[in-house]
Amino acid sequence: MTLAPDRAPALHLVPGVPGVPDSPAGPFGAGVLGEEVDLDTEVVLRQRIVEARDLVTFVWEPVTRPVGGLLAFRPGQYVTLTAGIGGESVERCYTISSPPTRPHLLTTTVKRVEGGRMSPWLHDRLEGGGRVHLRGPMGDFTVSEHPARRYLLLSAGSGVTPTLSTVRAMADLAALGSLGPGPDGLDVVVLHSARTPDDLPCRTELEALAATHPGLRLVWTVDDVPAQPGAGHAWTGYRGMLTSAVLAAAVPDLAQREVMLCGPDGYRAAVRSMLAELGADLTRCHEESFVVAEAVAPEAVEGAAGATVRFGRSGREVHCAPGTTVLDAARQAGVRLPSSCASGLCGTCKSTLLSGRVDMRHQGGIRPREIAQDRFLPCCSVPDGDIVVDA
Ligand SMILES: Cc1cc2nc3c(=O)[nH]c(=O)nc-3n(C[C@H](O)[C@H](O)[C@H](O)COP(=O)(O)OP(=O)(O)OC[C@H]3O[C@@H](n4cnc5c(N)ncnc54)[C@H](O)[C@@H]3O)c2cc1C
Ligand code: FES
Repeated sequence: MTLAPDRAPALHLVPGVPGVPDSPAGPFGAGVLGEEVDLDTEVVLRQRIVEARDLVTFVWEPVTRPVGGLLAFRPGQYVTLTAGIGGESVERCYTISSPPTRPHLLTTTVKRVEGGRMSPWLHDRLEGGGRVHLRGPMGDFTVSEHPARRYLLLSAGSGVTPTLSTVRAMADLAALGSLGPGPDGLDVVVLHSARTPDDLPCRTELEALAATHPGLRLVWTVDDVPAQPGAGHAWTGYRGMLTSAVLAAAVPDLAQREVMLCGPDGYRAAVRSMLAELGADLTRCHEESFVVAEAVAPEAVEGAAGATVRFGRSGREVHCAPGTTVLDAARQAGVRLPSSCASGLCGTCKSTLLSGRVDMRHQGGIRPREIAQDRFLPCCSVPDGDIVVDA
């Protein structure tokens, strides 16, 4: 399959879109919606919206805004929320579900996880006007990184949240006439799988968008349609688990589409093999997991002598064994560095390297431009020789 002719800048911005910097035409994201701007601020809960069973959107207003007042992120990126729950500080990552084209408020859409710390607290305890801390945006699971003319956005469960931000942004830009050729410049299929029709997220909104944008096609699949007295057989969509036959029937041109895939591990693995079976190019399938993966420790070099890690501000120093992360070295030296996921994802431990080099294996918790400014994540970095850290 030849990809080149099909790869083209997908979303362009016309000058003067309110809240979005003017830019020359280019792919969605780079120079179009602007570079993301760091937020590290308390946010106030302004509204909650029930989107489906056990799925609630939280509308946040930042207490401190970036210069210019507008929020800038890319669709599909996530933030880290920190809340004091039961006397402890609890931190979790949540994808931004609002689109970057609406840069005044920011929303996260959270599925209640029974027995969990943060999600039941957000659902049941946090009241309007309540505050949490927010840091971000982070992550590179975004169509901005993968410009294409046609997309297939596949999701299951809470994995719909990157799709929500993306589709809302695409629809906003299409409505402004900012997209390329096509009925309204849009060519995207959204295929979401849920347990039952009651679990379909933002159903009314997404169906209304699909009804008004000919280039947006919405496909629901539900595992089950529980019998409801008097409801008859109202469900006309796909029933049962997603299969390659359903995928092929619903999206016959999937091999021509850039695929964004988000959902539970089992679902993603199943979809990946269906895509392969149907002849899709898996290098054009991009995935996000909501499960924090085990940290991949950089391998210790055989025979290496270890390294000295000095902490510039506290004046402490430790000689650590090969393969020791800088976060562990800090603990050994009695230096407290903030940390949460210990996997290079949440960005909590971000620090500055004053001298030396580290071998870092992160999972999206830091941006290339931050790395260029000597920022690094101590939880997933081992010293490559002696180093000095600003801590
Ligand atoms: C990049 C990224 C983006 C994400 N985006 C979203 C999003 O948009 N929307 C969304 O809803 N979620 C999202 N998540 C998931 C989210 O971060 C949380 O993991 C999720 O909300 C559950 O958190 P919790 O605190 O409620 O549950 P946790 O406290 O983390 O518990 C999760 C599960 O583990 C079980 N458990 C907890 N402690 C123990 C224990 N000691 N022993 C045994 N079992 C235990 C709980 O019963 C529960 O079933 C995202 C995750 C990542 C990494
Ligand atoms: S603790 Fe999460 S990135 Fe380091």
